Amino acid sequence: MAIKITSVFSMRHLFLLSLAMNVSLILRTMYEREHGLNWLCFEAPNGHLSQRTRLSLSSSSTSATTTPIDAQPGGDSIINLARGDPIMFERYWRQMGDRATVVIPGWQYISYFSDVTNICWFLEPEFAKEVVRVHRVVGNAVTEGRHIVVGTGSSQLYLAALFALSPHNASEPISVVSQAPYYSSYPSMTDCLKSGLYKWVGDAQSFNKEGPYIELVTSPNNPDGNVRRSVVNKSDGILVHDLAYYWPQYTPISSPVDHEIMLFTVSKSTGHAGMRIGWALVKDQEVARRMTTFIELNTIGVSKDSQLRAAKVLKAVSDSSEHAAGNLEEEESFFEFSYLLLAERWKLLRKAVEHSGSFSLPEFPPAFCTFLNRVSEPQPAFAWMKCEVDIEDCESFLQGHKILTRGGKEFGVSPKYVRISMLDRDDNFNLFVKRLSTIHL
Ligand SMILES: Cc1ncc(COP(=O)(O)O)c(C=O)c1O
Repeated sequence: MAIKITSVFSMRHLFLLSLAMNVSLILRTMYEREHGLNWLCFEAPNGHLSQRTRLSLSSSSTSATTTPIDAQPGGDSIINLARGDPIMFERYWRQMGDRATVVIPGWQYISYFSDVTNICWFLEPEFAKEVVRVHRVVGNAVTEGRHIVVGTGSSQLYLAALFALSPHNASEPISVVSQAPYYSSYPSMTDCLKSGLYKWVGDAQSFNKEGPYIELVTSPNNPDGNVRRSVVNKSDGILVHDLAYYWPQYTPISSPVDHEIMLFTVSKSTGHAGMRIGWALVKDQEVARRMTTFIELNTIGVSKDSQLRAAKVLKAVSDSSEHAAGNLEEEESFFEFSYLLLAERWKLLRKAVEHSGSFSLPEFPPAFCTFLNRVSEPQPAFAWMKCEVDIEDCESFLQGHKILTRGGKEFGVSPKYVRISMLDRDDNFNLFVKRLSTIHL
């Protein structure tokens, strides 16, 4: 009996306790929504994810605006456009329904191995087939006679390329350079393990050391969207082309590129950053072999599940492009959809900048796109915006307006510049342009 009473008593206690916890959780969530607070995952200044941090921004910083913070569009909610998370594409993939759905039974794909006859033995043949097909459909890269190396994102392939290209018996690490402004993750990724094989040296334009070096050519470039070529004019250089943004929604496709090592990723081409799949097209067999060894030592291959999902997504992209070209109306072309969405966003951003009068944006000449079969405008995944007049630190200035961006210093240039993601969700982007247009100096 005593036991029974105790257990009823403790059940009641538990019920009341859980009720109280739920009510307080709901109240807290409502409070945070109302006050625009959120558990946000920030990137540390070096471009890598830091621990989850509760956001609290002071509104006291360098704001010289005539619009009070709480009177600006969206009130005091924080607009985070510092990261390049490509969630803009989510809308398209929702519309596609099951065309890109993958179901994998529990017994399938459990081996480490995919194709032991291939140099890259963990490369799924289905994924390789769709990589070749999408490049043929888009016409942006030569795949004939290339080795495909798959990676956990093109980030892993970047490190694999450094490993493969560095002389392993040299007395000092090989220099790694890229023209500034460069992708902000290159310096920290290159130096995070303080490798004895390679070392980040910085801006390729001021590089004048004798001896071998690796030059990264990012085209179109992150952060400024420019089409790039190598700039170091020496004979001992090895080039790595990072072509994450060489897709028709971002830039006119002029011809299939044909370089020694070319890096691509689904993160920016189809918007599936969470799948963590990238691929390298590599001319030299020995380089492909060494890149494969790096990935073998690093992660013993690359998720088969992700490769199969990537194959399905790339197939959906190629199908949609071919159907659109054949005027089959049943499907919207992925690249048309994303090109138009980005065009709309760039138009809105340029209007907001003009209305504000406090900022400037780069201009890009239109060019013929062989994929779209018409003249198209470059419309980069990031806006490289400059604070005009006497604002020296554009990132802090915008932070004062609760707009989070990434400042020029992280890209090796002046803090007068910031990089702004153009790939966020519609509501966040629309709020951003509204708020930006009200900032007058
Ligand atoms: C130029 C460039 N290269 C590589 C990457 C990393 O891509 P992934 O997600 O495939 O690792 C990014 C991501 O922002 C990028 O901008």
